[in-house]
Amino acid sequence: MKKKKNTRQDFYFKKAKKENYPARSVYKLQEIDKKYRLIKPGDFVLDIGCAPGSWMLYLAERAGRKGKVVGVDIADLKIPLKGNMEFIKQDIRELAGSFGRDFDVIVSDVAPETSGIHSVDVGRSLELAETALSIAEKALKPGGKFVCKLFEGEGVEKFLEEAKNIFSFVKPFRPKAVRKHSREFYLIVRNFKNELGSKSL
Ligand SMILES: C[S@@+](CC[C@H](N)C(=O)[O-])C[C@H]1O[C@@H](n2cnc3c(N)ncnc32)[C@H](O)[C@@H]1O
Repeated sequence: MKKKKNTRQDFYFKKAKKENYPARSVYKLQEIDKKYRLIKPGDFVLDIGCAPGSWMLYLAERAGRKGKVVGVDIADLKIPLKGNMEFIKQDIRELAGSFGRDFDVIVSDVAPETSGIHSVDVGRSLELAETALSIAEKALKPGGKFVCKLFEGEGVEKFLEEAKNIFSFVKPFRPKAVRKHSREFYLIVRNFKNELGSKSL
């Protein structure tokens, strides 16, 4: 009998293999990019929690030769670095003050090692998302865009409210490539408000 379970995972897994991406998660970013017009050629992009490197490959392709992608992770990349990519091996919690207001787009797919205890995992993930948000607040150009992975659970509503104070467009979105039973979703955030007020894209 044919197995129906995990069909969607298998589809994205095989597609990533065929298209030489080290992780299937690239199709989440691709869908976000197509729907919300995230990246344009020449953009300067920060990829928080970038290993093994699928998002970096996609971002570097989209940003093109005039753009640049800087990735940060505690783990190593599994892709070769191209000319418009830079990798910083570091814990994102130690990044404070590393960047100026340099980036057009900041994406965060950062995720902690899971314990299997939902409340613990949601808490750890939220802590990393808070760190990513605070990096975005300091390192995005006015009008910049931010994408951040989150897990449904306690504390997420508060996080959304915080994001709304900093950005004028905040939208939760669940890409098709997210696994069926996962509580994962992405926050799509645009129009970083600078000190002079919000700037529309
Ligand atoms: C789901 S993976 C990212 C996949 C990536 N977007 C891709 O397409 O290849 C999450 C990453 O977050 C990283 N991570 C977790 N905690 C971190 C931390 N404190 N600082 C930096 N990276 C961290 C992990 O090492 C892991 O590589």
